[in-house]
Amino acid sequence: MFTKRSTAEQVTNDVDLTGKTIVMTGVNSGLGNEAMRVLAAKGAHVIGLARSLEKATKACAEVEGVTTPLSCELSDLDSVKHCAEQIIAMDTPIDVVICNAGIMALPELTLKDGLEMQFLTNHMGHFLLVYLLQEKVKQAKEGRIVMLSSMGHQMTVKGGINFDNLDGSQGYKGWKFYGQSKLANLLTANAFDERLKGVGVRANAVHPGVINTNLTRSLDGVLGAFFKLPFAGLLMDRVFGKTIPQGASTQCYVATHPTLKGVGGKYFSDNKEGKTSYYGSNKELADKLWDYSVGYLKNYI
Ligand SMILES: NC(=O)c1ccc[n+]([C@@H]2O[C@H](COP(=O)([O-])OP(=O)(O)OC[C@H]3O[C@@H](n4cnc5c(N)ncnc54)[C@H](OP(=O)(O)O)[C@@H]3O)[C@@H](O)[C@H]2O)c1
Repeated sequence: MFTKRSTAEQVTNDVDLTGKTIVMTGVNSGLGNEAMRVLAAKGAHVIGLARSLEKATKACAEVEGVTTPLSCELSDLDSVKHCAEQIIAMDTPIDVVICNAGIMALPELTLKDGLEMQFLTNHMGHFLLVYLLQEKVKQAKEGRIVMLSSMGHQMTVKGGINFDNLDGSQGYKGWKFYGQSKLANLLTANAFDERLKGVGVRANAVHPGVINTNLTRSLDGVLGAFFKLPFAGLLMDRVFGKTIPQGASTQCYVATHPTLKGVGGKYFSDNKEGKTSYYGSNKELADKLWDYSVGYLKNYI
């Protein structure tokens, strides 16, 4: 039985990932960086994605094991498509896709391609990546999709996802839009699970805990100033009890642990099943988000 204090190494202790291929976004920092280190050490071939090839190459070079760096800028759909094409061209089944990268609570509304930046990066870029890779995941013996959500999914906008305000033109609040994007990650896990479970691919969502990583880089005001203090990391570890190796554990557990074979459509926190919000388990909303996303991405899929 694992706990919130279990590390990524501990939850994968008995797991042999030799012969497995794992695609993961955001491998150059925080939880993704630690997860890649551990998964590669357990024998997986990790296809490590970062915003630029330089960042991905540097991150991959720093871990032991078999890794392939690729560039994937999630807010640039051409970049996501190009990345997916490169992975498909490797012509290997993909055992796991971990959608780990993310940005949090941008203080100012940032727009790109008609979408608010957190929704575009955290949700739409990942949705496209998984959608394009799904045939390769189906070829794996027991394919898994892991979406990094957050307990922040509970602090979303009115209605869960406000399809009439995805560009923020009717009002913008950084934290609420982060919550909306993380709810979208959770609903996307449920939606892929619903559509792929019949062919043996399962998808789950993860809240990793509260961990002091570079995720706080965009914060402004008092909170932003706090995280720039030299002792902030230590205080976070003490108060919330999670270091980066502990924070990376739940995604590694959900991605690889044999006891979760055939488990999907769930939300995990602290290495066990957690409770979602009302919207987080709303199938109608998940279907609406699916239809919206497929429609938005019609030129890419
Ligand atoms: N830390 C927490 O307390 C916490 C809590 C709940 C959920 N989460 C979730 O956990 C995941 C990992 O976060 P973390 O804490 O490890 O944060 P982190 O250290 O900031 O890592 C985030 C990663 O995402 C990448 N990324 C950001 N924007 C991107 C883009 N447009 N295209 C491609 N990659 C991009 C970053 O790349 P750059 O370094 O190049 O920007 C970085 O590699 C996130 O999805 C986050 O929402 C974290």
